Amino acid sequence: MIERLQQEFMNLYSTESKPRVFFAPGRINLIGEHIDYNGGLVLPAAISYGTYALVKKRNDSIVRFFSNNFKEDGIIEVDLNDVKYDSAHTWANFPKGMISILKDQGFMIDTGLDILYHGNIPNSAGLSSSASIEMVTGALLKESLDLSIDLETLVKLGQVVENEYIGVNSGIMDQFAVGFGKKDHAILLDCKNLEHEYAPIILNEHVIMIIHTNKQRALSESKYNERRQQCENALIDLQEQLEINNLCMVAPNLFEETKHLIKCETNRLRAHHVVYEQARTKKAFQRLKAGDLNAFGKLMNDSHYSLKHYYEVTGIELDTIVEAAQSQKGVIGARMTGAGFGGCAIAIVKKAQTEQFKENVNKIYLEKVGYEASFYEAAIGDGARELKGVEIG
Ligand code: GLA
Repeated sequence: MIERLQQEFMNLYSTESKPRVFFAPGRINLIGEHIDYNGGLVLPAAISYGTYALVKKRNDSIVRFFSNNFKEDGIIEVDLNDVKYDSAHTWANFPKGMISILKDQGFMIDTGLDILYHGNIPNSAGLSSSASIEMVTGALLKESLDLSIDLETLVKLGQVVENEYIGVNSGIMDQFAVGFGKKDHAILLDCKNLEHEYAPIILNEHVIMIIHTNKQRALSESKYNERRQQCENALIDLQEQLEINNLCMVAPNLFEETKHLIKCETNRLRAHHVVYEQARTKKAFQRLKAGDLNAFGKLMNDSHYSLKHYYEVTGIELDTIVEAAQSQKGVIGARMTGAGFGGCAIAIVKKAQTEQFKENVNKIYLEKVGYEASFYEAAIGDGARELKGVEIG
């Protein structure tokens, strides 16, 4: 596949020499949902689906972007001296944002590039395709232009692109998972200081299935920001009596003693989710390390319940899929993953049952929602990097 992409690049940009190839994955989050912006622990993993970027340096200050996923937009051309946000540049604002932020930070970016992107993350799946584009661009800029920058800084700048350049108020989890992913491992990330620890994902005779609702996500951004605001308001109320900087500092028993301080009932429900989800994430990491997949699956189910009833970010599509999945033979646990309001769910399913699983869940989904779900088996892969040697084939 990569050789074909290299050929495509050579035809597109009329060159005889092969481009360098970079890749950044998408991510799933195993547990710890809507926790990153509340300063706690999350447990994501990078997947084998992601974004390829092929690149060659130029002799001027022009950058040309082309994406196989947005062929209709053609080649988008910018000058390195003008990389401000431009809505006409649609998807290319993500890579442009990386260039712009790196320049703002004082990195020397004055050599033009030709770039071809090719992503295989399903559309609007909530599997972090935007973080994937940001991080693959960060990796290619670093390597092609010899920037002296470490991965953690690139990850943080990816979030700045999202928050300030694109204007989406997301946390650090996605860029971190995409940057620091490790094959067959989950990452326990402490979002308040970026300390992290890996645990092997040992599934034995099971697989992780990703189930896409295929729902078009429209209102998700404003609802996401609304949840953030509700958590901030709950925190302010609790701070009247507690010395805390974020909701994840509150253990469940302390929460039970102090939750009356949260004046608004809705905000109390949101905080309830955050406090208990944080406790579940800690337990889940221990269970994963101990190889106790059943206990891990139970925590996934509890997480979904909480996201449905307390955080209210699921909706009929995700609930139908998750509840159908949980009732299938050979399923250890299932939950939504990512922001919610559509996007994807994940389920740990016995390998031998996957065909039956897909058929049954899809049937229930189609009957209730009126269109089909899509199913992908998740392989857990490495983070953003240049592909060389055997990885190119
Ligand atoms: C989105 C955001 C992340 C995180 C999740 C919810 O994926 O980009 O930062 O907040 O939602 O856990």
